[in-house]
Amino acid sequence: MSKLLNRIVLVSTIVTRVVAQNGADSMKSLKDTFSTIADIHAGKVSLGRVTVAGWLRTKRGSKKFSFLELNDGTNSKTIQVVADAVLPNYESEIQKLTIGAAVCIEGELVESKGQGQKYEIVAKNVEVYGFADPDTYPLQKKEMTYEYLREQAHFRPRTATFAAMFRIRSRVSKFIHDFFEENGFYYAHTPIFTASDCEGGGNVFQVTTLPLEKIPRTPEGKVNYSEDFFGTPSFLTVSGQLEGELMALGLGKIYTFGPTFRAENSNTSRHLAEFWQIEPEMAFWNLTDTIQLGQDLVCYCVRRFLEECNDDLDLVVARNGVDPRPWLRMTLEKPFVRVSYTEAVKILQECGEKFEFPLGWGLDLQSEHERYLCEKHFQSPTVVYDYPADLKSFYMYMNEDGKTVHGADILVPGVGEIVGSSQREHRYDVLIERMHKKGLREEDYSWYLATRKFGTVPHAGFGLGLERLLMWMTGMGNIRDVVPFPRTPKNCLY
Ligand code: 4AD
Ligand code: MG
Repeated sequence: MSKLLNRIVLVSTIVTRVVAQNGADSMKSLKDTFSTIADIHAGKVSLGRVTVAGWLRTKRGSKKFSFLELNDGTNSKTIQVVADAVLPNYESEIQKLTIGAAVCIEGELVESKGQGQKYEIVAKNVEVYGFADPDTYPLQKKEMTYEYLREQAHFRPRTATFAAMFRIRSRVSKFIHDFFEENGFYYAHTPIFTASDCEGGGNVFQVTTLPLEKIPRTPEGKVNYSEDFFGTPSFLTVSGQLEGELMALGLGKIYTFGPTFRAENSNTSRHLAEFWQIEPEMAFWNLTDTIQLGQDLVCYCVRRFLEECNDDLDLVVARNGVDPRPWLRMTLEKPFVRVSYTEAVKILQECGEKFEFPLGWGLDLQSEHERYLCEKHFQSPTVVYDYPADLKSFYMYMNEDGKTVHGADILVPGVGEIVGSSQREHRYDVLIERMHKKGLREEDYSWYLATRKFGTVPHAGFGLGLERLLMWMTGMGNIRDVVPFPRTPKNCLY
């Protein structure tokens, strides 16, 4: 009896040990079991046993074997997997795989005999993570329009073109950080909630926790903001500039890089309600300095883009049929053209071109005017400077003529304005006067004005729209296609 008991105890310890072992197994890394397709194509994975996971881009084959093209998002390339009919789940699963299915392949990495690819995998085991029902899966093998894909934005990262576009977006963001880091700037985080409207245009999204069905009112019938979350009307920022200035007026050279929000009802191919802006701000700099910085930043991004993003750009070019590389190379060859607003208006009035919108000194340049200047007249990125004060924001430095301000826009072919810059008004009295003219209340900007009272210095900065830069660099025609989840009027899905 005791022998039997002993045996039971022994068996149970073995079982416990096995269970404990399995417990440890269940905590093993999953990612470490895979090689990435990027690493395979970079020659970083030795031939022989390999495991990869990805989504099926295409499949062809017969009863005897199938060729599966897999992509895992790590770069623009796919890897071909050969699955033989001897595999146990060949008929039950592998033959049923369709585009979009997710699989894990264990097999042998071999040098490919086929053309166009260096490596392929001979599958030993195919595990299906998830089928994608071809009758309802929104992506098909045939070319889908960009309009259709925008409605399926949750699957755009699985398409070759958009995966390439979003990898480019990530790379270009890194180039921007590198540029500033290499040039001695500090990265400043400015707030997204704000109580001020930097551009003064009133195109702000208001943020509130007040119950909209039963808004609390003051005895005078006004909205009682003392009950709102921040105790004051508050908004999503349209620009990090004003707070960026505060940072520069202590740290010298800073830049912000974050989302900004505009409630403009402009349903155009170059406007988003949420876009990413890069805003450097520099103490002891003037307009000339900031324009040069804008040009240097743009050229730095272009140079690295041309050196490092060709595989992804090839995919975008293949889809669009437009290759931006020749014009990007031209951009690097000579300085941007610089022209005053007054001269620009004269050129446009005398050029003989028929424009839809009116022209005249004091009127804003429309997209068609901006594009004519840089695409047809100068055939170069173009800086337009010294705009009429009435067209620009309150913070721009007033020129001696009393009519124009020291602000400049950088315009590029195909897009128009990508950078808005200015020297800032650092003279207290002039700034106050400008604010009054624009109908802004001093008390709303007391902290901003204070910097002009205590240790004020000339300073300057600009805002570059990341999406507009990406449109120009990739040749994408619509801003909705360079951002993963575009926010535009009547569209806030996800
Ligand atoms: O010219 P903007 O309005 O300038 C500012 O916001 C300044 N506070 C910047 C500064 O000096 N720090 O905007 C700057 C850039 C534009 O040139 C454009 O590239 C982009 O931001 N932009 C937009 N991009 C997409 N959608 C919109 N609705 C945009 N509005 C401006
Ligand atoms: Mg602007």
